Amino acid sequence: MQIGASAIAAGAAAKVTLLEPSTLLAATTQAEAGNTIHFASIGTGVRGCELLKASLRVPGVECVAVSDLWEGRLTAAQETLKKPVATSRNYKEVLDRKDVDAVIVACTDHQHRRVVVDALSAGKDVYCEKPLSHTVDDGFAMVAAAQKYNRIMQVGSQRVSSILYEKAREIYASGALGDVCCIQAYWDRNSPSGAWVYPIPPGVNEQNLDWTAFLNGAPSIPFDPVRFFRWRCFTDYGEGLGGDLFVHLISGIMFISGTSGVASRAQSTGGLFRFKDGRQFPDLIETYYDYPNFRVDMRCNLNNDGGEFIGFYGDKGTMIIKGSTLTFSPQNTQPEPEAYSVIGWPAELRKQYLADWEKDHPLPAPFVSKLTEQVETYVPPPGYSDTVDHEANFFSSVRSRKPCVENEVFGNNAAIGCHLANYSYFNKKAAVWDGAAKKITG
Ligand SMILES: NC(=O)c1ccc[n+]([C@@H]2O[C@H](COP(=O)([O-])OP(=O)(O)OC[C@H]3O[C@@H](n4cnc5c(N)ncnc54)[C@H](O)[C@@H]3O)[C@@H](O)[C@H]2O)c1
Repeated sequence: MQIGASAIAAGAAAKVTLLEPSTLLAATTQAEAGNTIHFASIGTGVRGCELLKASLRVPGVECVAVSDLWEGRLTAAQETLKKPVATSRNYKEVLDRKDVDAVIVACTDHQHRRVVVDALSAGKDVYCEKPLSHTVDDGFAMVAAAQKYNRIMQVGSQRVSSILYEKAREIYASGALGDVCCIQAYWDRNSPSGAWVYPIPPGVNEQNLDWTAFLNGAPSIPFDPVRFFRWRCFTDYGEGLGGDLFVHLISGIMFISGTSGVASRAQSTGGLFRFKDGRQFPDLIETYYDYPNFRVDMRCNLNNDGGEFIGFYGDKGTMIIKGSTLTFSPQNTQPEPEAYSVIGWPAELRKQYLADWEKDHPLPAPFVSKLTEQVETYVPPPGYSDTVDHEANFFSSVRSRKPCVENEVFGNNAAIGCHLANYSYFNKKAAVWDGAAKKITG
């Protein structure tokens, strides 16, 4: 559907297109033809509950069990589902259930490897939240397990299923941008919540929360609810801004540009300027990545509310995704007479140059207005959720056994991007990716 109202109201000539979602429609048709898929969720914190809520909009799927280490999360999960389901603090009990076809893994990053490998070996298909891995080794262990047990595995970077990103991918692939050698991306927030300073729920203790299971091989320390609820701030459990936000930007860039591999090199800088609350990660990180066909300049800053942005700068056009708006603007590639360097020529020579140029280049119709007319803007419809589409895509693959939109290899490569950024930041030197050795070297 084409609408021009907002553009006209803004006095611009740009065309605004409301994108049409299709994933859910396809999922409905598919679900009507098959049986209900029963799934369980392991990790029902903030994201786990968001995913459960989204699952209520996906046809032909039903959550039958949930697992989490804190009792409060088990209650929250059932409240989200608006019905009682089987619960356990021990995720292995959920994996033992024969009525569970697939699992959503939305636990803390340092637990992904153990839970995902156990789920795959129990014969379950897996949707694992981003970033796939806490370490490079963890990522390759999960890739190997998905392939060994031959299960459907999808990683949870929902931008990969977004209709906005699909349109961006189409524009990129059409060549309308020309050669793109420069990509810029940032995600900036300016609030305690944006910096993971989450409140600690009253009444949490070691009776209603399994602290030993949370540590999972991390150094053994006494119960610390701050570490449990703000785990992203600590290197034993999270990866800071790299694992939280860079991985979304990287997977979006990979998807849109059709890039499947890892950057060959990354160089980071940054620092901890404001949230000096004992955290081990910076609140500003900026990284330059070397990909074969382009360079990426990426930033996350917790000290200014800049929002989410990806810009692709080509020699024929610029494509910007800002929040949930996509804009394509062509560059002026019309031949033009040199206007600058001839300023220093004698008037007679300048006149001659212009006359010759005009003879060689009969002028087309005025171009400036045409360029403005060619600006295209795309937005998703109100209420659109890429998370719902990403889940619908996963369950479609579970049903059809066809490859999913973001498999373990893609998710692993995206996560390595965040490990490269952190390696460079902490070691104060460029991080080099050695693909053959599957290692970061400096
Ligand atoms: N795709 C997105 O936009 C998005 C958004 C937020 C979070 N995430 C990802 O989702 C995951 C969870 O993040 P969150 O914000 O919900 O964190 P959270 O702290 O709110 O929830 C994590 C939960 O995992 C549980 N858990 C940890 N180990 C477990 C185990 N062995 N068995 C069962 N439960 C276990 C914890 O008890 C906790 O309740 C992370 O990987 C995060 O990066 C993705």
